[in-house]
Amino acid sequence: MPEVDVRPVTAVDDTLRAELLACWVDVTNAGGAVGFVPPVTADDVAPVLDKLVEGAAAGRDVLCVLAVDGATAGFAALTANGSPLRRHWGSVVRVQVHPSRQGDGLGRALVLGVHRIARERGYEFLTLSTRDGTGVDAFYRGLGYTEVGRLPGAIRVAPGDDRDEILLVCPLGTTAARLVDPDA
Ligand SMILES: CC(C)(COP(=O)(O)OP(=O)(O)OC[C@H]1O[C@@H](n2cnc3c(N)ncnc32)[C@H](O)[C@@H]1OP(=O)(O)O)[C@@H](O)C(=O)NCCC(=O)NCCS
Repeated sequence: MPEVDVRPVTAVDDTLRAELLACWVDVTNAGGAVGFVPPVTADDVAPVLDKLVEGAAAGRDVLCVLAVDGATAGFAALTANGSPLRRHWGSVVRVQVHPSRQGDGLGRALVLGVHRIARERGYEFLTLSTRDGTGVDAFYRGLGYTEVGRLPGAIRVAPGDDRDEILLVCPLGTTAARLVDPDA
């Protein structure tokens, strides 16, 4: 059995940065919906990755890196809300598993790892948004997320192709779950 691990990372060295960048480029060019539309190059993705890396170094965000037998296989980021009134809510962004590893349960392991890291940091709810038409919201529904709304046509993937942004919420504790679903 391979060893699967999701670890919080605050300091990203050059090797890890190159692995995260290659992952994001490959995921996008394989059709993944993570902030871009294909085709992309490393030059397109690097500035957006570097913002995440800076946020992690500053302690604002947490990079959650998925490794299989020690090799980087994907990642996600947990981003904090700036308001002191909203410290119990966090957002999950950039969830991705390398295309060579998808469909094998690693996406589930990654998101559950993000939940563990979020709980350790005191978060009670997580928000996440997906692009309509990808079907990926079904993946999150299977992990405890509930749709709470949509921003109609908010994502313009191409001229004349506007997609809804689907807003999802995941309560991390039983009490929180009842606020989203009274039957939980
Ligand atoms: C979405 C993603 C992270 C899922 O990772 P994965 O390793 O392929 O998923 P898993 O193998 O852990 O799948 C877990 C379950 O979700 C389902 N699932 C996975 N991807 C799905 C999708 N795109 N649509 C619907 N269901 C999906 C699987 O069928 C599986 O269901 P099961 O438990 O009933 O068998 C991965 O496919 C990915 O990186 N996609 C490209 C990037 C992307 O679009 N990210 C979403 C940003 S919001």
